[in-house]
Amino acid sequence: MTDILDGPPIVTRGVERTFVGATGQEIHVLRGVELTVQPGETIAVIGSSGAGKSTLLHLLGGLDRPTAGQVSLAGHDLSSLDDAELGHLRNRFVGFVFQFHHLLRDFTAIENVMMPLLIAGQPTKTARGRALELLHQVGLGERLDHRSSKLSGGEQQRVAVARALALEPPVLLADEPSGNLDVETSERLHDVLFELVREHGTALVVVTHNPLLARQTDRILDLRGGVLLPVDAAVPPYPRKD
Ligand SMILES: Nc1ncnc2c1ncn2[C@@H]1O[C@H](COP(=O)(O)OP(=O)(O)OP(=O)(O)O)[C@@H](O)[C@H]1O
Ligand SMILES: [Mg+2]
Repeated sequence: MTDILDGPPIVTRGVERTFVGATGQEIHVLRGVELTVQPGETIAVIGSSGAGKSTLLHLLGGLDRPTAGQVSLAGHDLSSLDDAELGHLRNRFVGFVFQFHHLLRDFTAIENVMMPLLIAGQPTKTARGRALELLHQVGLGERLDHRSSKLSGGEQQRVAVARALALEPPVLLADEPSGNLDVETSERLHDVLFELVREHGTALVVVTHNPLLARQTDRILDLRGGVLLPVDAAVPPYPRKD
């Protein structure tokens, strides 16, 4: 398996995902998702609650496997990989930010950001330097040694963004990163998010109900009836700021 990326970080072909419900009935959530995420491209995925947005994001990041169709991460068809290879690929190529941050509560902000770097085998000093830099970039230079459980919701999400980008993955997958934040805090998080992905050329797929976030992306896709449909970004509520 190669660690080099020279094409789209994510490509899906005819992705389907079916769940079996509580009474044994099949729920066809995804019915043929076609998506190519180009290097450095930013994409918003919108759609009603239960449309399958989180399901899709899990599949894109190799946290789940499709019922039918193909997901390729960095040119590797995920169905050809065993769990260990998939784990390796995920660590190397994908960063995740979830709606509820999933930080380690008893660890400080800087420890949370250092964690993926240490797991990847970087020396403590290097990991600390990189984590420091990222936390300064997300405006938390004064909060390095606060336990994550003692940070505000917006601060925790900024730590989560810093952690997700620590290993400089070519693609960041974010599920409602500002879903439980107030308008002002959300905007601040969005600014930080876009600043970082643009600086590093990171591709971004972000699930959001927030038009302010969606309209900052290169394109908007609506997950509807189990497929992705392009949204006309020229019409409200998505007109571009510029
Ligand atoms: N593991 C599972 N087992 C059974 N059904 C599931 C499972 N995961 C998701 N579903 C069902 O699939 C559908 C899509 O769920 P999903 O969480 O992807 O929606 P969503 O678009 O992210 O919604 P929201 O905007 O509310 O977060 C829902 O009907 C959900 O109940
Ligand atoms: Mg969801």
